[in-house]
Order: sequence, then C-alpha cells, then structure tokens
Amino acid sequence: MRTGAACWTAVLAVAALTAFSHAIAHETAEEVAREKTQAACVADKAGHALTPADASALYACLAEDLHAGYRAGDKRWIPAEFVDDYRSWTAVSAFPAAPGVHGTRFLMTYVNAIGAETYLRYQEAGVTMPEGTVMAMESFAVNDEGQVQNGPLFLMQKVTAGTSPETGDWYYMAVTPAGAPMTMNVITACSDCHQGSFGARDGVGYPVPEARVTR
Ligand code: HEC
Repeated sequence: MRTGAACWTAVLAVAALTAFSHAIAHETAEEVAREKTQAACVADKAGHALTPADASALYACLAEDLHAGYRAGDKRWIPAEFVDDYRSWTAVSAFPAAPGVHGTRFLMTYVNAIGAETYLRYQEAGVTMPEGTVMAMESFAVNDEGQVQNGPLFLMQKVTAGTSPETGDWYYMAVTPAGAPMTMNVITACSDCHQGSFGARDGVGYPVPEARVTR
C-alpha cells in the first residue's frame, strides 16, 4: 500500500512537473515567436529604398502589432468602433506607400462601406463624400537602418452637412501608436491642409497614384 501511495505521489509529481515544463515551454515558444516577429519587422534596407513588395512584406509583419497598439486603452471622444473595425473596411491603398522623394512615413488607408465606392473613383473635382463616411489612415516610419517605428492612426468622419462648416463637415481625429487619443487644433493641424489642398475633392487626400487600389 505504501508503495502504491508513493507511486501515486511520484506520478502526481511527474504530472505536475510535466505541466510545469509545458508552461515553461509554452512561454518560451511565445517569447521566441515575439522575438522573431520583432526581428522580422526590421527592413533589410533604408526606408526610402523599400519597394512596394518590401513595404507589403513589412506591413504583413507589423499589421497585428500596429492595430493592437491603436486599440489599447480608452478612446474617450473617438468612437472606439472606428479603431476596432477599420481593418474590415475597404483597403484603398494597394500597399503602404511613403509619399515624397525621400518619404519615410508609410501610409495605409481604409474607407468604410458608406464612403468606399465614392473614394475608389479617385475623382479630382466635384467630389461629395457621403455623410457617414469614415476613413482611417495608419502610419509607420522606417529609418535609414531599416528600423520601424509605429506612427499615429489618422481618422476622418463625414458628419451631417452644416455640423462643422469650418472643417468641410469632417471630424478629424488621431490616435497615438499606444492608443491614446491625440489632442490638437483640428483646424490648423488637419483641416487647413486638407481643405486648402484638396477642397475640390471634398478634402480627401488619396494615396499616391501608384499605390491606389483600382477596381
Ligand atoms: C500638410 C497637409 C496635411 C495635414 C496637415 C494633414 N493631412 Fe491628412 N492627408 C494629407 C495627404 C497628402 C493625404 C494623402 C496621403 C497619402 O496616402 O498619400 C492625407 C490623408 C489623410 C487621411 C486618409 C484619407 C484621405 O484623405 O485620403 C486621413 C484619415 C487624414 N489624412 C487625416 C488627417 C488628420 C486627422 C490630420 C490632423 C491630425 C491630418 N490628416 C493632417 C495631407 C495632410
């Protein structure tokens, strides 16, 4: 009997040990996976030298982490569902592009179902985005060493005509890479450029032509 009891004790001990080492193995596997993700999210060349394929590969690695960062924490005055859901909207960027000759800030834009149809026409004039349109633009920077830094998420929401005439009836919002809503003067920080540069397109910027999704 004693032997039996000792045996059970030993079995339980082995079982506990096995469970324990599984926990360790699991943690280690997760850590390795995380390290791999981070390592893979470094480009092997400078940001300004990335091809569309390079930028897409980098984005594939980065996408989950980028979104998790934006979603973290309380969104306060920003509708949380915009931040939660925008990845399920229509991607209007074929790949993250960095506008400008030596652009190092890569941009990836999504438009919700209400606005996607109009947006995807990329018209230069006479554009009226429908009320309820929401557009989300992710950003990340890649420096000369190929190191990636997550950037803010930019949001624009088209509200009922007459609600905000000074911004062309767009609400402008931005979220830091860590998920905090950004405080800014939306007129000078956002709207002046959008209305001034793209007034005839209802304030819409559009990705650079080579990065546009065509239907
Ligand atoms: C100096 C000009 C300028 C300023 C300031 C600016 N933007 Fe933009 N914005 C652009 C341009 C240009 C694009 C198109 C970018 C691209 O994809 O190449 C754009 C694109 C966007 C988009 C994607 C939808 C679209 O228009 O195609 C959103 C959303 C956006 N901006 C929000 C903001 C917010 C929020 C702010 C203020 C925090 C802001 N922008 C400030 C020039 C500006």
